[in-house]
Amino acid sequence: MNPVLAHTGARYPIVQAPMGWIARRQLAGAVSRAGGLGVIETSSGETEACVAEIRAMRESGLPFGVNLPIRFLKDDAMLRFVCESGVRFVTTSAGSPAKFIAPLHGAGIVVYHAVPTLDLALKCVDVGVDGLVVEGAEGGGFKNPEEVSTLVLLQAIRQRVDVPLIAAGGICDGRGMAAAFALGAEGIQMGTRFVCSAESPVPANYKQAIVDARETGTWVLNRKATPCIRALKSKRTEAYVAEGLMPPDALKGIRTLYFDGDMEAAPALAGQSAGLIDGVKTVQQIIDETVAQFMEITARLGGLAAARSFG
Ligand SMILES: Cc1cc2nc3c(=O)[nH]c(=O)nc-3n(C[C@H](O)[C@H](O)[C@H](O)COP(=O)(O)O)c2cc1C
Repeated sequence: MNPVLAHTGARYPIVQAPMGWIARRQLAGAVSRAGGLGVIETSSGETEACVAEIRAMRESGLPFGVNLPIRFLKDDAMLRFVCESGVRFVTTSAGSPAKFIAPLHGAGIVVYHAVPTLDLALKCVDVGVDGLVVEGAEGGGFKNPEEVSTLVLLQAIRQRVDVPLIAAGGICDGRGMAAAFALGAEGIQMGTRFVCSAESPVPANYKQAIVDARETGTWVLNRKATPCIRALKSKRTEAYVAEGLMPPDALKGIRTLYFDGDMEAAPALAGQSAGLIDGVKTVQQIIDETVAQFMEITARLGGLAAARSFG
């Protein structure tokens, strides 16, 4: 059996990326109902709200996961709640998962850590993670300034580790999913694609900006400081690129961006796959089309192998 399915209980190894404020029950529930794995964020730091979201997902009976961004957790309250709340699958990110493994495993929770480099992948395997989310530089949101593409990073990690890999960064359809599987992944995670879904809570103009963007429509900001992020090109982000630095409070207006549609209130996080996304679709459509395209491509490639032909 596919190990990501065994670990998550989902019907398809398609995971929705954790995204502050965006990855809550509305989106995560839609993804899990459509056969993927919805993941609830805790990076917003809104502990009470996130607890309510996790409880609601638990009560729905759908498979789901929770993300714990280690560096952004104010204290261990969220870790303790997750351990006591019947959550079965956690992705950790932003920091070393070493201290989180024992309590999470003690609660019977499967742990995947998100890694942008081979070095971190090896360290995570050493401390006992069950799997890895391999996040290439194409992806939207928080980034490692030493950019390595999903294409290379997946291969580098697959060559050295045996744990299940979920590929993230630049994947938005069955073509990307088939490519990720060819490079050694057993699952995929999509952020930008699900932001641009009917069930995503962001305003229509944010979704339209993703649809309008080309593959060159994003850039990486703040490489020499933290946080280093990938966001859509805009007047505001152009100024940050020109200055070579982003003010420390640049993301302060992110809720105004996410909920009031002011596209200049903060950098609009998005990945290079924005250049491949040509419309807002329901989560069900996105997942069904991704699975169908994956099957079509792998069947065609299987046919080539059976015929010992390159087409
Ligand atoms: C709008 C948006 C918001 C995001 N917010 C967060 C976040 O709060 N915390 C985090 O760890 N990653 C965040 N990410 C990164 C995603 O978790 C994921 O790694 C990324 O979206 C995968 O690449 P893709 O966008 O090409 O699918 C965000 C991504 C997007 C597009």
